[in-house]
Amino acid sequence: MIPLKKALTSPVGRKFVMSISGIALVLFVIVHLLGNLTLYVPDGGETFNRYAAGFEAMGPFLYVIELGLLAVILIHIGWGITTAIKNRKARPEDYDESTETKGGPSRLSLASKNMIVSGVVLGFFLIVHIWHFRVRKDFVGETTEVDGQEATNLYAMVHEAFADPFWVVFYVGCMVFLAFHLRHGFWSALQSLGAMKPEWSKAIYAIGFFVAVVLAVGFMGIPLYIYFVDLPPPV
Ligand code: HEM
Repeated sequence: MIPLKKALTSPVGRKFVMSISGIALVLFVIVHLLGNLTLYVPDGGETFNRYAAGFEAMGPFLYVIELGLLAVILIHIGWGITTAIKNRKARPEDYDESTETKGGPSRLSLASKNMIVSGVVLGFFLIVHIWHFRVRKDFVGETTEVDGQEATNLYAMVHEAFADPFWVVFYVGCMVFLAFHLRHGFWSALQSLGAMKPEWSKAIYAIGFFVAVVLAVGFMGIPLYIYFVDLPPPV
């Protein structure tokens, strides 16, 4: 047990845990965005609610998946925070100065230095988001029917949320931090896992940038589309 703890908290082990958990979370975010894109289907929420009801139909198995997801999120955050604290302690001089290299600024760009800031914002976003969309059930039109069965009307919930400009700004703002976090995280994970030759560095950074922008813009589009295009007039 102790050697495993030692391995996972060694500098290499820390990078490995952060990379694997980060990649798992990116996969979740991709699947989550693909599912949420059904909000664009102009059928009054039938497709989106059917997709969401599919998860409800999993019953207790859904809780197992959610607990697994929560564990990965907590591991990623826990390792991230303790690694940042360790790195700061090991580097007494100013972080900015230490990133300068003879050949100009290193890959530790603004995004890299701000991983902890964007990570903290995303942690806060997740707490608010899960309360807002997963835990809270007091929205208008709480239930609907999917294939003759009663189901939660998550389509109504999302539309109710994004009728409020506060939530539109909150979600769009947080997605900017998601873009920064993913852009550097993607590159960093592949580098840590040794999946990257030095000559691939630029290309992988460009792919990371692309993935980050596509995901962040994909999520941002939902509140913006609902608020500006898809919101039915109040009755
Ligand atoms: C406009 C953007 C987003 C929309 C419309 C949205 C929508 C939703 C909805 C409707 C749920 C509840 C699902 C259910 O109760 O079955 C949910 C849960 C969740 N969302 Fe999002 N989401 C968005 C962005 C994000 C982002 C960017 C992340 C991660 C960075 C995220 C992470 C999660 C997590 C972890 C859950 C809980 C999953 C579960 O317990 O099953 N969401 N989201």
